[in-house]
Amino acid sequence: MLSYQHIYHAGNAADLHKHALLAWMLDYLTAKDKPLSYIETHAGRGLYDLGSVEARKTGEAEAGIFRAERAGSLANNHPLMRALAWVRAGYGDQAYPGSPLISQYFLRDGDSSHLAELHPAEHEALAGVAGDGKLYRRDGFEMARAVTPPMPRRGLMLVDPSYEVKADYATIPGFLREISRKWNVGTLALWYPVLTDKRQQNMVETLREGFPEALISQVGFAPARPGHGMIGSGMFVVNPPWGLAEEAARIEVIFAG
Ligand SMILES: C[S@@+](CC[C@H](N)C(=O)[O-])C[C@H]1O[C@@H](n2cnc3c(N)ncnc32)[C@H](O)[C@@H]1O
Repeated sequence: MLSYQHIYHAGNAADLHKHALLAWMLDYLTAKDKPLSYIETHAGRGLYDLGSVEARKTGEAEAGIFRAERAGSLANNHPLMRALAWVRAGYGDQAYPGSPLISQYFLRDGDSSHLAELHPAEHEALAGVAGDGKLYRRDGFEMARAVTPPMPRRGLMLVDPSYEVKADYATIPGFLREISRKWNVGTLALWYPVLTDKRQQNMVETLREGFPEALISQVGFAPARPGHGMIGSGMFVVNPPWGLAEEAARIEVIFAG
């Protein structure tokens, strides 16, 4: 039974980190006149209302996208800010794009997209806003195994679990190894939380050993509430696009202050 709902956390500091890197990679990859495949194992509902009761209950977006906007942390022409402006123009000032809508902003005719979301209500909401790509109401790890290597071969996969299933920490390194063997040219981006109890640490160490060339961008931030276990956000990227290291360093500065 899945209980995680991203609406409580949409636009928070972790989303800012993850979505800024994701938008930058999609902007870079779609700048070339060659088609690509986009795959998401854990898509969420795609569109969030930061004015909703759920989002206001935690107030997490305040320390994320709203603070970044007030501080001018990302230039207006940063890929994430362009995707945000596009979503607000379509859905109103309180709208915030999940990763599927960020990808929708960048993907072109001829690109292909595969989005998995297992939660029935989240899947239904996603179906209401998703573009032309394929949607799956099935386990995202299974979906990724089934569609890789994708056509076209060039592309990006985002793995963004809620880590509600604690076994994810143990199984994800093997999953990424399996996908990278089948799809050795794919960019594989895994998001993980940085937790006070360091639950993510073994997974990240195993990933480092298995993919010594991968890029890791990790940032720290204050917990959303006193005693809250998440104190940072990490992105582990196999086959990072050219220039991602420099972009990650720019984004990390936002969190350093
Ligand atoms: C962190 S949220 C995704 C947020 C989204 N990627 C974004 O950045 O906007 C994780 C989502 O994964 C879904 N989920 C959990 N287990 C899943 C599984 N095994 N396969 C597919 N989706 C799953 C949850 O219902 C939740 O909506």
